[in-house]
Parts: sequence; C-alpha cells; structure tokens
Amino acid sequence: MSAPETLGVVGAGTMGAGIAQLGCAAGMRVLLHDPVPEALERGLERVRSGLGRWIEKGRVSEPGLLEPAGSLDGLAPAELVIEAAPERPDLKRDLFGGLSEVLGDDALVATNTSSIPVTSLAGSYKHPENVVGMHFFNPPPLMELLEVIPADQSGDRAVQVARETGEAMGKTVILAADGPGFLVNRCARPFGAEALRLLQERVATHEQIDRICRLGGGFRMGPFELMDLVGVDVGFEVAKSFTQLSFGEPRWKPSPIQARMVAAGRLGRKAGRGYYDYGQDGSHRPDDPAAREPGGGGGPLSIVGEGPIAAGLRERADAAGYEVSDDAAAPLVVDAQVPGGEPLAVTGTLVALCAERSLASYGVPGAAGFHLLPPLAESRLAELTRLPGTRAATAEAAEALFANLGFHTEWVADAPGLVLGRIVCQLVNEAAFAVGEGVGSGDDVDAGLTLGLNHPRGAVSWGEAIGLDHVLGTVDGLWRERREERYRAAPLLRSGAGLRSSTNV
Ligand SMILES: NC(=O)c1ccc[n+]([C@@H]2O[C@H](COP(=O)([O-])OP(=O)(O)OC[C@H]3O[C@@H](n4cnc5c(N)ncnc54)[C@H](O)[C@@H]3O)[C@@H](O)[C@H]2O)c1
Repeated sequence: MSAPETLGVVGAGTMGAGIAQLGCAAGMRVLLHDPVPEALERGLERVRSGLGRWIEKGRVSEPGLLEPAGSLDGLAPAELVIEAAPERPDLKRDLFGGLSEVLGDDALVATNTSSIPVTSLAGSYKHPENVVGMHFFNPPPLMELLEVIPADQSGDRAVQVARETGEAMGKTVILAADGPGFLVNRCARPFGAEALRLLQERVATHEQIDRICRLGGGFRMGPFELMDLVGVDVGFEVAKSFTQLSFGEPRWKPSPIQARMVAAGRLGRKAGRGYYDYGQDGSHRPDDPAAREPGGGGGPLSIVGEGPIAAGLRERADAAGYEVSDDAAAPLVVDAQVPGGEPLAVTGTLVALCAERSLASYGVPGAAGFHLLPPLAESRLAELTRLPGTRAATAEAAEALFANLGFHTEWVADAPGLVLGRIVCQLVNEAAFAVGEGVGSGDDVDAGLTLGLNHPRGAVSWGEAIGLDHVLGTVDGLWRERREERYRAAPLLRSGAGLRSSTNV
C-alpha cells in the first residue's frame, strides 16, 4: 500500500488542475479528464504553467508525465482517481457509475467534495470499500492541508493510500469523520455564523466586525470579506446543507441576512458588490493602521483580576507609565476578573470586562465595558462598550486608557464577549463539540484551521491561550442572556478535561 504511480484526476477546474499539478510534482503519471474540451485544455495549461514555476524555483526536478484523457476510458490505467467535478450529488453519483465500468477492481476512487457526505457517494461505485474522501483546500498547490475522510464503507486500504498520496504530495494529512463540513469547515463555521448573528443584533457593523477580527484577532481577513471572496450565495448554500444534514442544528442555521443578500444579487467580489463595494481597482477598504505602542499614561491605575488578560494589561500599563495596583479605591479601576466575581464597588471610574456577562448584567450604573483576547502581545485592538447610563467622562477615560495601553479601540454595542470574544469562544465551543463527537483530534483541529484556512491559531490552542474557563463563561453568558440553543456549551468544554486529548469513545 502506497501512493499510486498512475493517478487519474476528473474535472480540470480550479481544484482538479491543482491536484493534477501536485501529482505530477510528486513524480506520478497523471491522467487528467474533463468532459468539456476547452476546460480540459485550460486545465492542462494551468498544470503546465504551475509546474513550470515550481521547476524554475527548484521545487520540482523530475515531474511525472501529464496526459490528457479525452474520455473516462482514458483513466483505465489509474490506481487512484481523484474526482473534482462540480458539487452536485447526482452528477458525482453518475460519475462514480461511469468509473465503475472503466477502472480495474483494485482501483481506488477519492472525492474532493466539500459538503456531500462521502458515505452517500460511496454506494454508487462498484466497490464502495474502495471509496474515500480527499478534501484539498483552495488553491491545492499552496494550501498545506489534506483532510482524509473515510466513508462508513471505506476499507483500510483506501484510507491508507489516500493518506500516503497526500504525504507524497507534501501535505499535512488529517483524518476527519464523515459529516457536515467534515472537521475543518465545521470547526470554522462560527467565524461566519456568529459574525452574521452579531450583525443581525446590530452589535457592530460588518466593517467593524472585520476590523476587530483583523486587528484584535490577527485574522488575515474578516468574516464578511471572506464571505464576499467565497461568494455569498455559496456560503448560503453551505449553511443550508449543514442544517439539512444535521436535521436543524441551531448553531448551523443560515442567516436571514444571507438570504436577503442573495435575493439582492449582492453575491460578493464576483458580482462587484457583496457586503462591500468593489470599485474599479477591486479595493474595498482602507489599509489597517499600524500597531500602537503603549505610552502617554500616568497616575494611579487599578487592575483587578488574575489570568492572562489582567497580566497582559498590567504589563502594558507599566510600559505606558501608570502606577499600577489592584486597589479598588483608585480613581480609575479596570475589572479584568475571569471568572467574573462580584461587581466591584468603586468610588472612581470603572471599566469592566464583558466576558461572562454584558455590561448591562454587570449592573454598575455609569461604568464602561471592554473586551479583548489573549495573548495581548498579539492584539492591536480593544473593544469598548457603553450604555445610555455610562457617564461621558467614563467613556472618554476608557478610550484614553486603552489608547495609552497601545490599542486601537472600537465602540460596539453591549453583549457577553462583545464581538471577537463571542466569535472566538464559539469557534472553541464548536471545536469542543467536534472533538467530543470524535470528528477529529484537537491537534487536527488546529492543523486544519491554520493550514487549511489560514487562521492565525487553531481553536484548541486559542482555548488554551484564553483559558477554557473564560470560554465556557462567555458561552454560558450568551446562553443566559440570549436563551438560544446555539449557545449551549459542548459537554467536553464543560467537563474541564481539555480539548487536546479527549477520552471520549
Ligand atoms: N473551489 C474550492 O474552493 C473548493 C475547495 C475544496 C473542494 N472543492 C470541491 O472540488 C470540486 C470541484 O470544484 P472546483 O472549484 O474545482 O470547480 P470548477 O467549476 O472550477 O471545476 C469543475 C470542473 O468539472 C468539469 N465537469 C463538468 N461536468 C463534469 C462531469 N460530469 N464529470 C467530470 N467533470 C465535469 C467542469 O468542466 C470543470 O472544469 C467540488 O466538489 C467542490 O466542492 C472546491
């Protein structure tokens, strides 16, 4: 059992051409098929130019042979065929039927589907045990990850060859159970889903949410920029398929905002307009500001609490020139307690962390709220919130304080976790569900999100950096204040067992 010498690829579009390039680069003979002659020609050209660039850079010295297959029959010599045809179940099932007539009994068939259960396709091939999912990420030549998905029918040989083929192509291979979004797209769902919920509740605008994710969380792109890039209609279809496959899991429901955007034809970049307008030059927003340094502070400042947020704030406050204490009688007090204790009784100005509860639930009239996520050394932005009763002087003091501590600030509406805390805590919660349900391991969640989707860190290591008590507190706070099942905490998160190694069977 090892990677094939002859690889077949069906569908010569974005994914198929990329996969064929990887096969050639790994020294395999690659037979590329597409029923549309122009698509086949374009695909072959893409493979040749991609390989040419790799040869120039010295990444590949002896590429395998690339051969066009004008019909499915041409794939007969292949030991493994990877299918990257359009994402339509009937079309893929027909294709599996066609391959059943052409391929030898030992040949394996892999599907690159991103949303159709592999188990529902395997039965259309003559030997279902020879079928497996090989989910590459876009663009395949660049993204380091391959997700291998055994169908219920898959035999060990199919899974093993899929893994070895991925490794021969230079990929980090992770194993995911069959189900909605497999491991990676499932664990990434809250990034968009929670952002849409925040927009619906008008906690912040889409521009703010994106900026907060970039500057506060280190994401390369905010959720709305990403939805525009992928296609708002594509995202809406994915959300509908998650709901259908899970029989209505509340965390995965599509948003009415997606439906409205699709109805309005605001499909994203490809339509010139989605959440953003893409002008003549394709740009849609100003560049982000550079990081700020702490400085300009002075006078007494009290920071109350333990844990990474309090510690990170103290470090910055020292650097900014404050006289730092945890004396609640100081004129300016930051309550950074996680888990949150009793609301502080202060005589001065109070700025309270909104993690496990909103500022309204904190219940100190006149106070302002804040949220940011550890590690603070990597965060460039703090979120602030105020209520109608927040004193203007307190709001000004909060804004000046966080600017002096070296953060850009963004005012958003009140909620447990504000914007980034809510999105990231739901990412960690989803990972806890996935690990607890045996969809994949904690290490694979992190490899998947960082290598497959370019997240700045995986949900499991994020949970460790923030503290699982902070995450659980925020999710429970949302549950208490929103009374929606989408905010129920995963059993594994509540168990306190940690997400990296689960003892669940
Ligand atoms: N684009 C992505 O980001 C991405 C990422 C991961 C997985 N996928 C999955 O990969 C698959 C292909 O996606 P894509 O983005 O490359 O699509 P694409 O539209 O770029 O390419 C599909 C190709 O399949 C060809 N085709 C049409 N009918 C066919 C048939 N009956 N048999 C074989 N080929 C046929 C088309 O001519 C086209 O060249 C889908 O299942 C998709 O869900 C896509």
